[in-house]
Amino acid sequence: IAVYADGASVDGMLEARDKWDVAGFTTNPSLMKKAGITDYVQFAKDALAAVNGLPLSFEVFSDDFEVMEEEAKKLAKLGDNVFVKIPITNSKGESSIPLIEKLSKSGVQINITAILTIEQVASVVKVLQQGTHNIISVFAGRIADTGIDPIPLMKQAVALTTQTPEAELLWASCREVLNIFQAQEIGVDIITVTNAVLKKLSMVGKDPKQLSLETVQGFHNDVEALGFSIL
Ligand code: E4P
Repeated sequence: IAVYADGASVDGMLEARDKWDVAGFTTNPSLMKKAGITDYVQFAKDALAAVNGLPLSFEVFSDDFEVMEEEAKKLAKLGDNVFVKIPITNSKGESSIPLIEKLSKSGVQINITAILTIEQVASVVKVLQQGTHNIISVFAGRIADTGIDPIPLMKQAVALTTQTPEAELLWASCREVLNIFQAQEIGVDIITVTNAVLKKLSMVGKDPKQLSLETVQGFHNDVEALGFSIL
């Protein structure tokens, strides 16, 4: 599986590149807001300089399909490694499929985002043009947030996308390190992971007995820091 870094701080991207050797990067408007971005094009240029040619996804901002198309073309021109994120609908719930088809025909590399159903995956793979390279982002973690196991849906998505060389399947909204192994096991192509979860990769393979001891030591240190006793 290819592990991408999910975030919109250029420092965070540099950290992900150098510490965890990630294979690509994803951003979205909420991550940009969190990172305090105030100038999209400047951010995009800084991010592109940081990622050394690795795949990097930037999302359109508009809610209007004609404007989205212009934004997509502008973002795509910034680099051959840019994937333009198009949400599966606009905020009114109107389908982006006609725009996705149009952009795919004009050769823009797309990352279709905010997908949460298998019908959405099926509608996208139908319109992607042969010979193009695109990403389909299924928000597995947001499905898990509703109390539903995302694995059955992700397996169906794997089946659809392996039949479609134009599409790589991406597990979005990774919540924990376990998701990386789950995604790998069922044949997902890419998982995008925040630096907070990437930091926990150092825990992989850790002896549980040692982890138990470190947990107790953590409590003990905090008791000392609190500086008072029960009795
Ligand atoms: C990545 O491409 C997605 O935008 C991101 O993983 C979404 O994460 P969230 O559902 O935690 O906001």
